[in-house]
Amino acid sequence: MCGIVGAISKRNITPILIEGLRRLEYRGYDSAGVAVLASGNGIKRTRAVGKVIELENALEKEPVHGHLGIAHTRWATHGKPAERNAHPHLSERLAIVHNGIIENHSALRKKLTDLGYTFTSETDTEVVAHLLAHHYKEKPNLLCAFRSTLRELHGAYALGVIHQGEPNTLYCARMGSPLVIGEASEEQFIASDPLALLQVTDQFIYLEEGDHARLTVESREIWNQRNESVEYPVLRYEHAAHSMDKGEYRHYMLKEIYEQPAAIANTLDGTLAEDHVLTAALGPEAETHLADIRNIHIVACGTSYHAGLVARYWIEEQAGLPCQVEVASEYRYRTVAVPPNTLLITISQSGETADTLAALRHAKQQGYLASLAICNVAGSSLVREADWRLLTKAGPEIGVASTKAFTTQLVALLWLTTALAQANHRAPEMISANVRALRGLPRLVEKVLHLDQHIEALAATFTNKQHALFLGRGPHYPIAMEGALKLKEISYIHAEAYAAGELKHGPLALVDENMPVVSVAPSDSLLEKLKSNLQEVSARGGQLINFVCERAELDNGDGITHLSMPWVYESVSPIVYTIPLQLLSYHVALVKGTDVDKPRNLAKSVTVE
Ligand code: G6P
Repeated sequence: MCGIVGAISKRNITPILIEGLRRLEYRGYDSAGVAVLASGNGIKRTRAVGKVIELENALEKEPVHGHLGIAHTRWATHGKPAERNAHPHLSERLAIVHNGIIENHSALRKKLTDLGYTFTSETDTEVVAHLLAHHYKEKPNLLCAFRSTLRELHGAYALGVIHQGEPNTLYCARMGSPLVIGEASEEQFIASDPLALLQVTDQFIYLEEGDHARLTVESREIWNQRNESVEYPVLRYEHAAHSMDKGEYRHYMLKEIYEQPAAIANTLDGTLAEDHVLTAALGPEAETHLADIRNIHIVACGTSYHAGLVARYWIEEQAGLPCQVEVASEYRYRTVAVPPNTLLITISQSGETADTLAALRHAKQQGYLASLAICNVAGSSLVREADWRLLTKAGPEIGVASTKAFTTQLVALLWLTTALAQANHRAPEMISANVRALRGLPRLVEKVLHLDQHIEALAATFTNKQHALFLGRGPHYPIAMEGALKLKEISYIHAEAYAAGELKHGPLALVDENMPVVSVAPSDSLLEKLKSNLQEVSARGGQLINFVCERAELDNGDGITHLSMPWVYESVSPIVYTIPLQLLSYHVALVKGTDVDKPRNLAKSVTVE
């Protein structure tokens, strides 16, 4: 998904735009561009294929200075990565950047071609530039022309616009894609994500769906879809204290893996009493209704979906409530049977994933008791649109492959399970054991991180491998799924996860000496069952890598490698066993020489469908 930045200031804004793009690169990195209204020289546009560094190199050769500008980092949807498709797109005397998808772009392209406009790209965005130029020609008032343009667009957009006819004004609008306004003294900014602007401000205004705005150095006007003037509070960005650079680490992913003890402690901060959880953390309304919840539906995408799958085991076993989990892209288009008093939970790191947001909006028509967003970004659309919220406090996650966001989601979900168990008067010993285990979790994760070197040594097993299987049982089956997803995402090795009991129903046919099989083997009630499944693999010459509890006794033998894990209380075990799988995929990616933080074809925040 693309990232946009814009700025209007009394100082030269080009370095601010470039730094913004660098910080937004996690959203897309196939090309980048900038358009600056250069004092007295009209709009100067520079674009480059590849990462933001390529754009920086181009600007070094031909620098541009100005006080008004927009910039973009692209994740291709319409038209392959090429300079002609990179934003900003120009038409006559204006430039625009866009994140989203204009669904009626074909019809608009035809209309504009008939009107005499020539297209230089295959993007859906270029129609917006020409449409705006067309309306401005009909009536040279940029606000009116912008509104007429927005009325004709179907689909999703966050837009930034500059025009030589109004050299002191920055326009923007959002519908279905995120956009914030950043405020500082005598300068204003726009961006897809506050992270892009933390170098210049921590004060943000979060636009609502359908809003558009006109910004100058000293004024800010915002209107809703009905063109009524609206005002929003300026909010301080909570993550501002977090360091945004890689520090001593080679990659953001590694830094974020190592930040997990602190991220977990922050997420739990102020939520645990000695032997119970403090449900006030959910807010007064949610707290009052906790005991009314009789069913739970969880909806999410990607890694967040895996967190939901683990939670289903916890919620059904510990809180005694039926729970179903679904990917948002399916849920949003189907008729759901919602029993009385069902809580909808959406889980998302970013809070801007298009399918998850659409699922929440779909759910609002389905008669749920309430909706709860578990999210890492306080000001995100998901958090603002849900009835209740439970924030993970992982801090900004930059690596495309989610790590600390996932473990903090699991922490929030185990905490919530405990809150529901409490509300349903379930066994107090179980509740206090969960609280103790949660409290001890940061230290335990720290301990597992010390296994890094041993895990690094295992990575060589994957050097020439094209495929891998991951096995787990119970709540560790979704952990195996997450381990396989991590490996796929960053090392491009085809990896599949199976509930270990399913092995003999098909995947066993794949097992030979070329197939590494990774198993998650905590010392739980399913260990004996898992052991039999692992023997099935050994007997067929499969190469087994077992992440195994120090108290469990697993067979040794040729082709079997054990990595000993500390004993952990059963509830938190899925969280702890996630860590070695993250480290394994990281080290395998290093061996394979892939781009760990920005794997090919992926984006961190998927704001299009
Ligand atoms: C993308 C990211 C994944 C993430 C998923 C859902 O695919 O690459 O890491 O799990 O989106 O994102 P969310 O922000 O909703 O958790």
